[in-house]
Amino acid sequence: MALYPLLRPLIFALDAERAHRLTIAALKLKPAGAPRLWPETLKVRLAGIDFPNPVGLAAGFDKDAEVFDEMLDLGFGFVEVGTLTPLPQPGNPLPRLFRLAGDKAVVNRMGFNNAGQQRARGRLARAKRGIVGVNIGANKDSLDRIADYEIGAAAMGPVADYLTINVSSPNTPGLRALQDANALDELLARTIAARGAGGPPVFLKLAPDLEPGEIDAIARVAIERGVAALIIGNTTLSRPPLASRHAGEAGGLSGAPLTDLALRRLRDFRKATGGAIPLIAAGGIASAEEAWARIRAGARLVQLYTALVYQGPGLARRIVAGLDAIRAREGFASVEEAVGTE
Ligand SMILES: Cc1cc2nc3c(=O)[nH]c(=O)nc-3n(C[C@H](O)[C@H](O)[C@H](O)COP(=O)(O)O)c2cc1C
Repeated sequence: MALYPLLRPLIFALDAERAHRLTIAALKLKPAGAPRLWPETLKVRLAGIDFPNPVGLAAGFDKDAEVFDEMLDLGFGFVEVGTLTPLPQPGNPLPRLFRLAGDKAVVNRMGFNNAGQQRARGRLARAKRGIVGVNIGANKDSLDRIADYEIGAAAMGPVADYLTINVSSPNTPGLRALQDANALDELLARTIAARGAGGPPVFLKLAPDLEPGEIDAIARVAIERGVAALIIGNTTLSRPPLASRHAGEAGGLSGAPLTDLALRRLRDFRKATGGAIPLIAAGGIASAEEAWARIRAGARLVQLYTALVYQGPGLARRIVAGLDAIRAREGFASVEEAVGTE
């Protein structure tokens, strides 16, 4: 893992999607690590689940649930696989994934490329080495998108520690319209019913590109429908000033330039929910300091993806260790105790 700075130029010489495929293939070869025991001070309880540490792998890295155990071994407290759609689909034409190295960012317009829920279900049905959530979405050509979420909840609920309803990908045309209060209300009611009474908690993942009025409406519907957590959030369609060649590519922007917007939205949702729903922060988290800032701003858990591209496989462990050090320095008995104390 200490080799990553040396390996990075070689990986970056490859097309980004090819590099990702090779990374997944290499991870599959990784021998299982010994079960890790995290200090009690890092434990977080959310939606009835005990998370061993608050740093998760965000959706999109392990879309097809191929390497969740390996990623747990790398130090993540939980892994979110997907987005998985009911039917396999190829996603958008290539190229569709771009590194913006000068900005420590990525632009992607993958478009829910995945091998479908049934194949992932088989892999997830085996014993897992930790907490694995399943992020579900709708097929691009679906005539009834809400029905796709019902199918996903019924198919994947039994093999998931939690389900995430993803209505925030910018790369499936029209998908974000499901964030509108009326559509969202129907989506949540039907999906939560399809999950069944004994099923796992349902989280909702939102875009950072929302206006104050929309945020209040979403918060109200989510509380009424019993959503167990909000993930704030996905990639942005906005474009803060960027230096890289690929800055003009269409798609969702992630990584460092998303940090400020994601933190602002987290605060907005904290205000709008008044603490009635736990929050999970994602977007531009690349250090223990940033993870700590989100926790202080109200997040019980955090997730990351893009920073892995730039910092490599040792990142999760570094952030987790760093968080515990900051916690001790700041005089909190546990990370959980620091949630929302800003
Ligand atoms: C290449 C790529 C693919 C992604 N695919 C998904 C996805 O399938 N479903 C999803 O909910 N989010 C997806 N995301 C969004 C991430 O889960 C995360 O919300 C976002 O990238 C912000 O976090 P980050 O700045 O740490 O990357 C993807 C992100 C990237 C970079």
